[in-house]
Amino acid sequence: MNSLVRKDFPILSRIIEGKPLCYLDNASTSQKPRKVVDVISRFYLETNANVHRGVYHLSQEATDAFESVRGKVRRFLGAPSEREVIFTKGTTDAINLVATSFGEMAILEGDVIAVTRMEHHANFVPWQQLAKRKKARFEIIELTNDWRLDPKEVDRVLGLKPKILAVTLMSNVTGVTNPVASLAARFKMAGATILVDAAQGIGHSEVKIDHLGPIDFLAFSAHKMCGPTGVGVLWGREGLLEKMPPYQLGGNMISHVGDFESEWNELPHKFEAGTPDIASVIGLGAAIDYIETHGRTRIEEYEQSITDYVLSKLILIPGVRILGPTDPHHRAPIFSVAIEGVHAHDLATYLDMEGISVRAGHHCAHPLMFRLGLPATCRASFSFYNTFDEADVLVKALSLAPDFFARRKR
Ligand SMILES: Cc1ncc(COP(=O)(O)O)c(C=O)c1O
Repeated sequence: MNSLVRKDFPILSRIIEGKPLCYLDNASTSQKPRKVVDVISRFYLETNANVHRGVYHLSQEATDAFESVRGKVRRFLGAPSEREVIFTKGTTDAINLVATSFGEMAILEGDVIAVTRMEHHANFVPWQQLAKRKKARFEIIELTNDWRLDPKEVDRVLGLKPKILAVTLMSNVTGVTNPVASLAARFKMAGATILVDAAQGIGHSEVKIDHLGPIDFLAFSAHKMCGPTGVGVLWGREGLLEKMPPYQLGGNMISHVGDFESEWNELPHKFEAGTPDIASVIGLGAAIDYIETHGRTRIEEYEQSITDYVLSKLILIPGVRILGPTDPHHRAPIFSVAIEGVHAHDLATYLDMEGISVRAGHHCAHPLMFRLGLPATCRASFSFYNTFDEADVLVKALSLAPDFFARRKR
C-alpha cells in the first residue's frame, strides 16, 4: 500500500544527513499529504472569510466549507448527531474542556476519578487537578508486567464505583490498545461517565463510537491522522453536553448578551468560543477524505503486518529492550526501546545520523516512565506510508547500536 501513498507526501523524499529520510515519529505527529496542504492553501487563497458571521457570499462559502467538516467527522466516527461534534484545538483542549465543564458540574468531595497508568499527561493531569480541586479520590489502574491493564486492578477500581473513567484507546509509549468497549460496559454499569482519549488510536485504527461501548466522550487531534496541527474534536453525548456549562466565554458561544446576564448558543456552538481555526478544520475534512480513500481497514491491516514484522526482528537484537508487549496482538506499530547504559537522547541522535527520525524523552507520560523506572525511552512509531525497507533500516541501525556505544565507552 505504501508505494501508492508515498508519492502523496513530498517530505518523505527528503535526504537527511546524506541518507533518505526515514520518518518514524508518527506518534508525535503524522506527515501531511499534498491534498491536505492544497485544500488549506486554497482556502486561504480563494475562500478566506470568518465563519458564522457574514451575510456576504464569501463568508457563507467559508461557513459551508467549515460546517461540512462537522458532517464528515460525524460520519467518520459514526456519531448520532452533528450537534455532538465540537471543534477544539486538539485532544488536550478537548479533555480539558470535559474535565473543567463536566468535572466541575458532576464531581463532589469524596467521589472517585479513575485513570490508567498508561495515560498521556493530557488525560492524566486535568483529572488529577480536578480531583485536588474537588477533594475527590484519584485512582490509577496499574499495569501487568506485559504493559497491559491489570484485570485485578480494573476490578479493584470498579469496586470503588468511580464517577469518571478516563482511558486511552492506545498508549503512545508502549503501543498497547485497550479493550475500551468491555471496560466501558463494566464501568458504565458501576455508574461511571467514560472519556476515551483517541489521540493515538485515530491514526492507526477505525474509531467508531458504537464499537467502543457505552462511552460518553471521545477526543482526538487532526495532526495525528494526516491533518493539520491546531485542531481536534471532542465528541460527547448530546444529553450530557446540553447539561454542561460552557468552557470558554466570548463570541459565537452566546445567543444573547444583556448587561448583566447572557444566554448560551445551542450545541455545538456553546463550546466553540471565538474564531475557530477555520483553515485547519477544513484541512481535517481533507485528511478524513484522504484516509477514507485508502480505507481504514486496509491501513489497519498494513500496519498490523508492519507491527508483526518489526517485533519479530526487534526481539532478536541482543541488548535492545522493548518497552511494550512483544506479542503483536492488540498493539500498534509504536516501539519504545532502551539499551542498558545508553541515554535515549544519545540513541536518537545516533539514529538521526542514519536518517531515522525518532522521538526520545518521556513522551508526556511521566507516570508510566516512573513505573518503567526510566527517565526516557527512544520511540520509533510507524504509519501506513512507512515501508518494510524503512523497518529494515531501523532494525539494522538498532542491531549495530549496542556495539557502537560499547566501543565509544572503551
Ligand atoms: C495518547 C495521547 N493522548 C493525548 C495526546 C495529546 O495530543 P495533542 O498534543 O494533539 O493535544 C497525545 C499526543 O501525543 C497522545 O499520544
